[in-house]
Amino acid sequence: MFTQLNKKLTLSSSFKTAPNIGLIKYWGKWNEREIIPLNTNIGVTLNPKDIFTTTTLTLNPDTDKNQLLINGKDFHISSRIERLFGIFREQILQSKQFASNKYKNSPSDKPLGQVIPDIEKYGIRVESNNSFPTGSGLASSSSGLSALALCLQDILKTDIDVRYLSRIGSGSACRCLYGNLVLFPGVQLQNLDKSDPETISLESKRCLPYEIQSSKWLKDKVSIVILTDTHQGQKDVLSKDGMKLTWETSKLIQGRVRQYVEQHINELQLALEKQDFNKVMEIIIKDSNQFHATCMDTYPPLLYLNDFSRQVIKMVHIFNRNAKHIVGYTFDAGAHAVLLIHNDELQSFKKFLSEAENLFTKSKYIIPSQQFWTSIGEGPINLN
Ligand code: DP6
Repeated sequence: MFTQLNKKLTLSSSFKTAPNIGLIKYWGKWNEREIIPLNTNIGVTLNPKDIFTTTTLTLNPDTDKNQLLINGKDFHISSRIERLFGIFREQILQSKQFASNKYKNSPSDKPLGQVIPDIEKYGIRVESNNSFPTGSGLASSSSGLSALALCLQDILKTDIDVRYLSRIGSGSACRCLYGNLVLFPGVQLQNLDKSDPETISLESKRCLPYEIQSSKWLKDKVSIVILTDTHQGQKDVLSKDGMKLTWETSKLIQGRVRQYVEQHINELQLALEKQDFNKVMEIIIKDSNQFHATCMDTYPPLLYLNDFSRQVIKMVHIFNRNAKHIVGYTFDAGAHAVLLIHNDELQSFKKFLSEAENLFTKSKYIIPSQQFWTSIGEGPINLN
């Protein structure tokens, strides 16, 4: 969107995105720079009506400084975001070299560098606001970085793939670009031990996310609640550091990457095609537990789950003994639980949850929780 500021043109773009929560967990990179995962993974996009990040990118002619604000506070611009900004400026410089008569039929599509000649000198200001706790394992960076990629592409209007821009911001971020369940392919097993530039380039083009069409039925069947441990602050080991350490030190991760995770992917896809709710939940639970087993097998261990998380796990399994449609749980790199509940069980589960919370209040390990209710979302919302 163009607006006039001090007689100069300023440009801005805004998107609203929701986090995407890993259901078959992404953990480990085959290529750090291109953010190509060691394993194919699947995540669910939450509903941006309930849980969201709103991101606005503005190009400011009055400064050449870049700025990142999260929830109103100045944040350090990470090397990944710097890289995104670098690609942005590179694209603008390239666009200046295009023959301008290419655009004579549709001047509005003219590349930015030709519309505003000194645009690469403008400062980039990114303002992101989360409706949920930042940096606590609730995938806030995934929604923020996917929105940033969408803003950059919206302003640039080049052929650069937004899935790529989003992926090099953060692996899980590229899954936020779609609704429902999203599959993000990892490196092919036959290339796992290779590292030549040709294979990297091939895998980089191939490892881009897509929506799983056969997952759409789930949206009307399921409610999602995030139970956050109110005692837990920021997580101590960031995902990007944790996954590196796991790959370097855990033997279990080898088995997971080379065999088990692929089985979970195939089983989940089959269960989605058959619309088998119970099976979908069972696979999600087992994958979360297997992922945290590899965290425990990391040296020193990654203790993302705490007493709160274990209470939730116990509670869900107690409920599932009597539930017709099993309730699913999953935990990312943090203590907070994401539960998926069949809508037919919703009332009985809510009742059970309030009683279980009372039960835990009486135990010496009580850890209060905050609840965020949502559903499966349909993907980003363009606010321009
Ligand atoms: C446990 O996407 O945060 O949430 O690619 O380094 O930014 P980077 O990692 P990130 O890792 C997410 C890991 C996870 C599992 C998942 O979302 O699948």
